[in-house]
Amino acid sequence: MTGFDAIIARDQRIEPRDRMPDAYRATMVRQIAQHAHSEIIGMQPEGRWITRAPSLRRKAILLAKVQDEAGHGLYLYAAAETLGADRADLTAKLISGAQKYSSIFNYPSLTFADVGVIGWLVDGAAICNQVPLCRTSYGPYARAMIRICKEESFHQRQGYELLMRMTRGTPEQREMVQEAVDRWWWPSLMMFGPPDAESPNTARSMAWKIKRHTNDELRQRFVDMSVPQADALGVRLPDPELRWNEERGHYDFGEVDWAEFRRVIGGEGPCNAERIAVRRSAHEEGAWVREAAEAHAAKRAGRAA
Ligand SMILES: [Fe+2]
Ligand SMILES: [Fe+2]
Repeated sequence: MTGFDAIIARDQRIEPRDRMPDAYRATMVRQIAQHAHSEIIGMQPEGRWITRAPSLRRKAILLAKVQDEAGHGLYLYAAAETLGADRADLTAKLISGAQKYSSIFNYPSLTFADVGVIGWLVDGAAICNQVPLCRTSYGPYARAMIRICKEESFHQRQGYELLMRMTRGTPEQREMVQEAVDRWWWPSLMMFGPPDAESPNTARSMAWKIKRHTNDELRQRFVDMSVPQADALGVRLPDPELRWNEERGHYDFGEVDWAEFRRVIGGEGPCNAERIAVRRSAHEEGAWVREAAEAHAAKRAGRAA
């Protein structure tokens, strides 16, 4: 065994200079692009609360968090470029709908409690998905994930801390938190993707050591982690079937509404059109910045020559 297969078998990393199967490269570009798009689109639900944060402290925290997500998007686009992808092309594919982003960001953020719940549950689910990616087989992706995971854990904590404050506040604040948890719990479980039985690419991604755990394993880990955290907050998770299973050593939970998941992925979520419209206008309004940067680079190159 030589080359690509040997590197995978030895649990080492594939680097940009290495030969790799075309399908591996294509899978990696698709996965990294989808991840990058999720980071960038993911700035929107919370971004809209920056101007309405209830205090300077909350505003500073939220601003830093949303800015981190922009940074995550940038590392990931750069990782995709090491595979020969073109960033302008990836952005065009996001805007045209040819490439996807996480379904979770197609849900609205209706109150400031959503900022806390997104940090707790959405960033929490992202951490479950992303920690194993620090050991994924493609080197530049694995290395980007190390820093990203450190920042995600700050995101999760800031969300949880906000919810701690709110649940110890007025009855109205507690109600706001519960209402936000009711809306975000099920979409968070969808972040792990379809059930294993309906996830045709999982086996190949596991063989290539891109994925280390299946969707259902990660979903279970997230549920097990979240239940005691919900108890500590004093909020109810909206699932009547949720209970500890002594035999399995895990929490049992109800069935995710997979029809809703497919509808949202298919473009019919509550905010799909808005998210893409905002991204498109930001891209168009930023054209002058890209042009100016290119003109500046050309001028410097000319001077150096
Ligand atoms: Fe992120
Ligand atoms: Fe995050």
